[in-house]
Amino acid sequence: MTAVPDNVIAPSILAADFARLADAAQAVEGAADWLHVDVMDYHFVPNLTIGLPVVQSLRKATTLPFDCHLMIADPARWAPGYAEAGAYNVTFHAEAATDPVAVAKDLRAAGSRAGLAIDRDTPVEGYLELLPHFDLLLIMTIKAGFGGQAFIPELLEKVRTARRHVDAGHLELRIEVDGGVAEDTIEACAEAGADTFVAGTAVYGAADPAAAVRKLRGIVGNS
Ligand code: DX5
Ligand code: ZN
Repeated sequence: MTAVPDNVIAPSILAADFARLADAAQAVEGAADWLHVDVMDYHFVPNLTIGLPVVQSLRKATTLPFDCHLMIADPARWAPGYAEAGAYNVTFHAEAATDPVAVAKDLRAAGSRAGLAIDRDTPVEGYLELLPHFDLLLIMTIKAGFGGQAFIPELLEKVRTARRHVDAGHLELRIEVDGGVAEDTIEACAEAGADTFVAGTAVYGAADPAAAVRKLRGIVGNS
């Protein structure tokens, strides 16, 4: 029995109005499965977004599970705080962690799922053996750091590699894509083997964010 549907749509509030984050979350309740929260620290990526106090406050403003995507240095130090704040899943970057499995264990002990993210320039092969320790693998389909970038179709090769590995090993692991996911790209992501789809601009750039989520779900189907 899975707690979440076969296909998960996770709108990214990075593309929402930061002065109205609670409204942005509530706008997709009932349509989205998770809310994707992009945490950036000006160090791991050259952008600064939101951190723990905002996540703690926003947690009280919506019933949607939080999918926190930490684009930060030193996840061993900072990631468990997001689990303690009530995140459903906390993903950190492989490139930022010296011992990813230890961080995954800490996240699970703190009460969340653990996700491993692979940025644009990082091959996935070196991380496949670590996947039994994770609940989610995030394959970036752009370079992490900014919303609104163009989808890079070549990166789906990593999704195909991961999907083959997950299926062959019967791993219980979601494969998430993030970056440029929209009506014209989501189908290719699903065909490559992704089952979890982050969409920022495609959702919050639309006049009706909930309708945009439903449209994306309609393209990939659902359980
Ligand atoms: C970028 C973030 C993404 C971002 C995607 O580094 O990780 O989650 O919000 O935005 P879009 O969907 O606009 O590419
Ligand atoms: Zn993200």
